[in-house]
Amino acid sequence: MTTFPINTIKHFETPFYYYDLDLLKATLHEMKSCIKGLPYKVHYAVKANANPRILHEIKEAGLSIDCVSGGEIVAALAAGFKGDTIAFAGVGKTDKEIALGINHDIFCFNVESVPELEVINEIAATKGKTANVALRVNPNIDAHTHKYITTGLSENKFGINLEQLDAAVDKALALPDVNFMGLHFHIGSQLLDFTPYKMLCERINELQDHFESRGIKLKIINVGGGLGIDYDNPDGNPIPDFKGYFDTFKQHLRLREGQELHFELGRAIVGQCGTLISRVLYVKNGTTKNFIIVDAGMTDLIRPALYQAHHVAQNITSAATETTQYDIVGPICESSDKFASDETLPVTRRGDLLAFRSAGAYGEVMAMQYNCRKLPSAHFSRE
Ligand code: LLP
Repeated sequence: MTTFPINTIKHFETPFYYYDLDLLKATLHEMKSCIKGLPYKVHYAVKANANPRILHEIKEAGLSIDCVSGGEIVAALAAGFKGDTIAFAGVGKTDKEIALGINHDIFCFNVESVPELEVINEIAATKGKTANVALRVNPNIDAHTHKYITTGLSENKFGINLEQLDAAVDKALALPDVNFMGLHFHIGSQLLDFTPYKMLCERINELQDHFESRGIKLKIINVGGGLGIDYDNPDGNPIPDFKGYFDTFKQHLRLREGQELHFELGRAIVGQCGTLISRVLYVKNGTTKNFIIVDAGMTDLIRPALYQAHHVAQNITSAATETTQYDIVGPICESSDKFASDETLPVTRRGDLLAFRSAGAYGEVMAMQYNCRKLPSAHFSRE
């Protein structure tokens, strides 16, 4: 459970992200213990949080890494990740980004189209190298999560459709300067029900049987990320259900001899260790609502505005025993700049500190400077 060292953090300039590194460590430990002895490799998805200190902890735990841009590759290398642990995904890789990946002999490009495959082959040839590639398949499986973070339906822009997969695999095998490694999937994010993963396993089993009948061996299968966290109860469930998640694949996916199963987890690793801390600027009693106006806004944590996400809000400095209902809003000139409606909190006053929990994933990394604001800073439980 995350505790906040109030006497220290009350002096920090707000808003800021506060990271509980002990929780991050415990999360990594639990994840690793669930895959011990299995041919499973977890790539941390940098997109969830690229803070150098966080990357350092994850690198120390020995994870591989999943990048979606040249910038993320640079951040991963700077944190000490080796090129041969990098999986590079994304529908729109530029020539420069592809060249960067090839220069660093990355573990694998997750390729999203045949034209991209051809460009990777061309660039590898000019460098006298062979690029490892996996093809990202769009398995047409509904992850039943928020529509903005569902990725595995044929209407989504991601991956190669099942109808076109045979031709794409043939192409990958025929091109001289790419090395075809296997298949990649990612069906969506923040999944708490594992049924879609079971369906994914069944789809992969069918595909493996199909390719085997064609004499094609897959060295790796990459099932992407998506394991969800408990946003409603961060202290009750600080560590996600890694066991249930990995067991789903263990039970339902028929791995072949010598085959490796790769994962790209982001949120599950860093989500619960991060908190956005803000200061109450004003408490304004309206006619129908009481508003708490804090100095953090959608620019610091965009998830509520973009995905209608709810982050538990806590007044971490109030000693009041009486509670009231508030809408919690930020200072940005947008009505969507709202963290919560009708949240019950201890009676709150100007100067109190409000914590928005479970903000370690897609929080700091998605912050922006709209309204010419400063980006939030970061502090750690161990400085
Ligand atoms: N692999 C691929 C190909 C992905 O597209 C993603 C996330 C991941 C792995 C990592 O997924 P995770 O384990 O973190 O669920 N900004 C949104 C989430 C966007 C997820 C994008 N792709 C949010 O704040 O909920």
